[in-house]
Amino acid sequence: MTTATTGPTTARGAVGTAHTRVEGRDKVTGAARYAGEIPFADLAHGWLVLSTVARGRVRAIETEPVLAMPGVLAVLHHGNAPRVETDYIGLLGMPPDPTAAVFQQDRVAHAGWPVALVVAETSEQAREAAEALVVTYDEEPHDTELTTGHPGAHPAGGVMPGETAKGDLTAGLAASAVVVDEEYTTPEEHHSMMEPHAATARWDGGRLEVVDSNQGTTWVQSELASMFSLDASAVRVRSEHIGGGFGSKGLRAHQVAAVMAATELQRPVRVVMTRRQMFSLAGYRSPTVQRVRLGADADGRLRALEHRSLNQTSTVYEFVEPSAGVARVMYDADAHHTANEVTPLDVPSPTFMRAPGEAPGSFAIESALDELAERCGVDPIELRLRNEPEVGPVSGLPFSSRNLEACFREGARRFGWAERDPRPGVRRDGRWLLGTGTAAASFHSGAGPSTALVTAEADGSFTVRIAAADIGTGARTALTLVAADALEVAPERVRVRIGDSDFGPAMIAGGSMGTRSWAWAITAAAAELRERLALGADIPADGITVRSDTTEALGRLAQKERHSFGAQFAEVAVDTATGEVRVRRMLGIFAAGRIVNPLTARNQLVGGMVWGISMALHEEAVRDRASGALYAPDLAGYHVATNADVGDIQADWVDDPDPDDPVGIKGVGEIGIVGAAAAVANAVRHATGVRHRSLPIRPDRVLAAGVPGAGGGTDA
Ligand code: MOS
Repeated sequence: MTTATTGPTTARGAVGTAHTRVEGRDKVTGAARYAGEIPFADLAHGWLVLSTVARGRVRAIETEPVLAMPGVLAVLHHGNAPRVETDYIGLLGMPPDPTAAVFQQDRVAHAGWPVALVVAETSEQAREAAEALVVTYDEEPHDTELTTGHPGAHPAGGVMPGETAKGDLTAGLAASAVVVDEEYTTPEEHHSMMEPHAATARWDGGRLEVVDSNQGTTWVQSELASMFSLDASAVRVRSEHIGGGFGSKGLRAHQVAAVMAATELQRPVRVVMTRRQMFSLAGYRSPTVQRVRLGADADGRLRALEHRSLNQTSTVYEFVEPSAGVARVMYDADAHHTANEVTPLDVPSPTFMRAPGEAPGSFAIESALDELAERCGVDPIELRLRNEPEVGPVSGLPFSSRNLEACFREGARRFGWAERDPRPGVRRDGRWLLGTGTAAASFHSGAGPSTALVTAEADGSFTVRIAAADIGTGARTALTLVAADALEVAPERVRVRIGDSDFGPAMIAGGSMGTRSWAWAITAAAAELRERLALGADIPADGITVRSDTTEALGRLAQKERHSFGAQFAEVAVDTATGEVRVRRMLGIFAAGRIVNPLTARNQLVGGMVWGISMALHEEAVRDRASGALYAPDLAGYHVATNADVGDIQADWVDDPDPDDPVGIKGVGEIGIVGAAAAVANAVRHATGVRHRSLPIRPDRVLAAGVPGAGGGTDA
């Protein structure tokens, strides 16, 4: 049931009012079932076995002893698993990641590479047998360290943006009164969503059905259809509730292994990743090494800008973390160069992770802007406003809207920026040094083709069917409000069904584009349905259904720079004795389109900002050079910000409806993390006078770099 928490719930006014999640009651009472817990008759359980070496070949897999263990039904591996098609380009314009296309070769490309699946009657039996399975390897020397000047480094290709260049960089820097030239690094980071990946596959009368936890049922459907050479209509993927995705929940090893086993055994098979397995099978954010060079006049106006970012990928798949892309939107200069480079290593393939590119890229460029502001003696907000571009710095296209200045003005007012003493290291609270920092944010806004079915039921209610995914964002609730307004009825009369590929093609929950894409399709179908009803159509027992497809409408959209923007503010306290950094206050003001549901939109923005704190201070997966595997790959060893790490945190927005979207939506999923780590790092600089250019800003780094009152240097 929908409950309005503020404002009246009237027809034609649901969008913009706060609504608790329509599935909230199901979630808190446990009625909502997740992919790993939905019961199936005759269910068998698969347990993945991962390589213990980082590079080499599987020499032998001793299956006989394991097959004799209680309950064991099968051991699948490269020697006996079905062959699958891997030579295709998927929906996102990329080939399948060989880490997901399991058991096709004896080569091991990274530590934690899937080498076998043990299937048994129970999960416990499968696990015991998987742990008993002896696999031997012909091991080869591995290389897992990302360094600048690596011989394997090359410009990014494929669908990911490589280089852009205009103007003479050397001349621009030489003509500049002030130059910043620094290197920034960010570590390997993991999604660590609450719900692990889980899939159950079964054949149902010649049709493959997969119950999964993913960010797009038609996406996984199309990947599985391509891989297993099936017609898309012969594959149904469902994903009702999802406990977080963050970019990691596409096609992964668990679905493919489950389909193989279900096919071999002709019974339902479930494969669930363990938390530790997720650290090598679920993708991650690559570490980055970024170089930013800024040249400016004495007043801070940029003449030259260069942003280069190097990331790692696996030897079997090229994924680019496009960190240098953020400068193509944010700042112009006569000489403007950006480049994303990638180095293949014997590591798992990285993947999309909340604000891929923008999250680490904004740390580098927004730190560099802060350095420039300080050297020019210009306020950091003023510096950014002096460098607001009229059009896209690289594209030359107009912005659909760019309300960054409004975000800074409103944020500065609410944060109390005017009272800030720009001198670093002067504010104290006992043994704590206090400082404040700011940073800008942007994230692209787009929409992907989607279809929706809207039905007028005979009882006067409406049913919406769309293959949307609610990965915890509140999309299901937002779409209920959008549908209610489009149908001119109260939200209580609208039922939104999602997460089923049988509803037809739809955009994934990704790129902050889900809600906008789906809302567009629902709005179009609802409009046509209302027209039909206005003609006085009698509603038959099975209702009247209208189907929409936004492919053509999206194709007619004018080419523009379309982005959300934001201003991040942070206040930190740095313990001069222990080096601990605490974020006391954080404020983010965003221009992110029309806000459909303030309650869940605020959740998204605050969630992203919390992740920014986490990125700034805590998160870091550390790879052991000797083994090529991670140290302590679990939530004890991998630190994420928890409640105790988060102080007063607020997110709000300025009016910014997208002029070309039927509902005015831009998207709020990712922008909350953008610039957040830079705001924290800039605040640490203000507090201590020390610039930290490597994340996370750990206590040992703070102490080693020195803090005023505790001795030490000035730069880390
Ligand atoms: Mo997001 S990284 O597009 O799920």
